[in-house]
Amino acid sequence: MQDEAPLFDVELNSVIKNYGSFRAVDNFSLSVKRGSFTTLLGPSGCGKTTLLRIIAGFYEPDSGSVIIAGKDQRGIPPEKRSTGIVFQDYALFPHMTVEENLAYGLRIRKIDPRTRKEEILKTADSLGLEDLLGRYPGELSGGQQQRLALGRAIILKPRILLMDEPLSNLDAKLRLRVREELKDIQRNLGITTVYVTHDQEEALSLSDYIAVMNKGCLEQAGTPQEVYNFPRTSFAADFTGPANFIGHEGKNYLVRPEWITLREPAATFAGQGRDTLTEPGKALFELTGTVAGADYFGRAMRVRVRLDSAVGGTAAPVTADIGYDLSGQDRFKAGTAVRVFVNTAREIESA
Ligand SMILES: Nc1ncnc2c1ncn2[C@@H]1O[C@H](COP(=O)(O)OP(=O)(O)O)[C@@H](O)[C@H]1O
Ligand SMILES: [Mg+2]
Repeated sequence: MQDEAPLFDVELNSVIKNYGSFRAVDNFSLSVKRGSFTTLLGPSGCGKTTLLRIIAGFYEPDSGSVIIAGKDQRGIPPEKRSTGIVFQDYALFPHMTVEENLAYGLRIRKIDPRTRKEEILKTADSLGLEDLLGRYPGELSGGQQQRLALGRAIILKPRILLMDEPLSNLDAKLRLRVREELKDIQRNLGITTVYVTHDQEEALSLSDYIAVMNKGCLEQAGTPQEVYNFPRTSFAADFTGPANFIGHEGKNYLVRPEWITLREPAATFAGQGRDTLTEPGKALFELTGTVAGADYFGRAMRVRVRLDSAVGGTAAPVTADIGYDLSGQDRFKAGTAVRVFVNTAREIESA
């Protein structure tokens, strides 16, 4: 009898990687559940690509270990690991057609031509590339190139799919569509995925689990709901969504814009309806301020308010989403005095 398959497909244990005297990955530990979509989220330069390449086997860690499917990977080269990688710049072979790009890895693995052809057709079909097999990468749109890069990785049926900011070269509208496609493909294949991005919205919408990275270290890991609603540090709070830090009665709080309700000073709750998230009377605490400006986001107004007091060491305005109430455009003009009802707040250490 074989042992039961391990729960985690990738385990990083205290991984350290230096470039000369610069430490790019610092004592990083993370366990990636089998079949999960796990994201490394952090700003440019925090070590995401380095970590992904360590999993893929392009770099060995200076210390610590990489375990894949229960096996220590030390000394195992990339082509012998059960990983497929989609590089940020796709790294397609420009002088090869779509078909040849897809065939490449299968050839290296000496898969016979008939099986090769079948696999190519199946993969191309699943990614909507079936009519483009004769084209060269230069003759493909950005989205098609992205899918080809993905196809080249998944055609080898890796146990683990690694993706390095795969949507960053696409324009905003396409990025959204491809993002949804990516999620469907990952779910359909059930393939364990480690995804790298600096984009909070991508991370929140795609992931089962997010590892927030800061300067080579793991800042916080959890589900999207956990890291968004219960960030443990101001860095994690700031990097997972719009964040206000408000000092109140000696404590420092994270308050997301949608956790705030704004009111004119004279306003009473009765009969004021549509932008009310919570009845102001039930707010955790109340502050006062002056509208500094408002930004229109189409589906919501974001109102910037300069608080009269109680701001923990910062003069930056607090922002509040007032949701779908378009009347807010007139109600919250710059200079208007407002009451700020904080409906939800998380205590957080000062930055
Ligand atoms: N080959 C290298 N030699 C020296 N420094 C590097 C090298 N690759 C990356 N770095 C540095 O290591 C840090 C982490 O890089 P990287 O892993 O690419 O971060 P990210 O993908 O999060 O932007 C950055 O400060 C980068 O400048
Ligand atoms: Mg990178």
